[in-house]
Amino acid sequence: MTGLDECWTRIRSAPHEPLSALFAGDAARLQAFSGDVAGLYLDFSKTHLTRDLVDGFDALAKAADFDAHRSALFAGAIVNVTEGRAAEHTAQRGEGEAEAVALAKAFHARTRGLIEAIEAGALGDVAHILHVGIGGSALGPDLLIDALGRDSGRYDTAIVSNVDGSALKEAFGRFDPHKTLLVIASKTFTTTETMLNAESVLGWMTMAGVDDPAGRVVALTANPDKALEWGVDETRILPFSESVGGRYSLWSSIGFPAALALGWAAFEEMLEGAAEMDRHFRLAEPRANWPVIAAFADLYYTQVRGAETRGVFAYDERLRLLPSYLQQLEMESNGKSVTADGTALAGPSAAITWGGVGTDAQHAVFQLLHQGTHLVPVEFLAVVEPGHELDDAHHRQLLVNCFAQGAALMAGRGHDDPARAYAGDRPSATILIDALEPRTLGALIAFYEHRVFANAILLGINPFDQFGVELGKEMAKSVEAGGMAFDPSTQALIERAGL
Ligand code: F6P
Repeated sequence: MTGLDECWTRIRSAPHEPLSALFAGDAARLQAFSGDVAGLYLDFSKTHLTRDLVDGFDALAKAADFDAHRSALFAGAIVNVTEGRAAEHTAQRGEGEAEAVALAKAFHARTRGLIEAIEAGALGDVAHILHVGIGGSALGPDLLIDALGRDSGRYDTAIVSNVDGSALKEAFGRFDPHKTLLVIASKTFTTTETMLNAESVLGWMTMAGVDDPAGRVVALTANPDKALEWGVDETRILPFSESVGGRYSLWSSIGFPAALALGWAAFEEMLEGAAEMDRHFRLAEPRANWPVIAAFADLYYTQVRGAETRGVFAYDERLRLLPSYLQQLEMESNGKSVTADGTALAGPSAAITWGGVGTDAQHAVFQLLHQGTHLVPVEFLAVVEPGHELDDAHHRQLLVNCFAQGAALMAGRGHDDPARAYAGDRPSATILIDALEPRTLGALIAFYEHRVFANAILLGINPFDQFGVELGKEMAKSVEAGGMAFDPSTQALIERAGL
């Protein structure tokens, strides 16, 4: 069987057995659908994947030339075909085409050099880092610092993304302008929100009488000329390659505030953890490859069972920003209607990613997961080692709840009163991390990146462009410029707000 359509027919015609029957019929099911890689234990046994389905998806991967696409990614070939670019985020971790790896190393050395200079006092007294950036230029550093920097105490950092002045106001209230370092993170160095926020921070420093505010600005960008033009000194511009996509950029100089807050050694460990996942993804055959197996499950639920969303619940406060990070990674990458060659997708694109933190979510949205009519494949994340020294009871309760939710979703419970009955057979996957450290977090994020890539290849999508965000940006410019006739609803809003 080679044709994509034939493979989908085979996958769609596989019998749908309930999870309880799948476990009852296969004593080795847990072993077959769980495993360890790079400090992560992944358990997909509570999904409806079967050996048969895996065979079907494996055939699909062959028909889609998955191996060649994967090799092209690591070889630095033009995989972002609509923009004519390579996608070299793995090169930042040392896994990729030799020249790209060497360039990433050189850029990292530059980043490290500036961090050491700041630590040595070259930019004066620095206690606060005010990082302005949005989307991929904010979500990654924010996640890393929130997950790993809670006790590091090296610098007080604020990642401000929203153009709403209330976001900056909050940082201004916390920080001393004389001790603040302004970090402007923008791949393009043209993003309106970021540039306006950067101007406002500079204005705040100037108003406070900071000596040479421009001397306390660092730029993280793939467009160093623009940063120079903006007034950032060449020595404080940390470049990265155009071939590193925004939502894949936390490994590049965009990770600067995290490297500063956590220390360079921690940042390097994070890169190494990601590289370990890269090697697994590059070398393991699809049916034994965790990001690919996860993509098989994603595709099964979206393409065969009609699931429109996927819920991600972190049972660890340190990972509370992961769902938002994944929303950009997954939805900006695979939220497309056409394949890489412009043909309309035959079925739905990737699922809508949403989620939250456990146990909070149990008391808010889990009602729908247990009894609602929607099919929502759920992903639980938990960490064996607690992130605090409080009474063990806290962590015990957290893990107990996490594992109980997966079990309850699957088992369900009958009842005479329909309002009190649980249908069960609701799928979940669990990722259990030994300890949340730079290395395992790096591996976890890389796992998701490769899962997105595997989904994209099997759907025929280019996951590395994001033209869908452009129209709104252009319209915003037209609203700002005025004089354009919009639809009556938009026109009325503009007039009512006095724009
Ligand atoms: O508008 C979407 C986007 O282009 C994202 O892909 C990107 O991460 C974000 O905006 C920020 O862009 P930049 O880093 O160029 O400011």
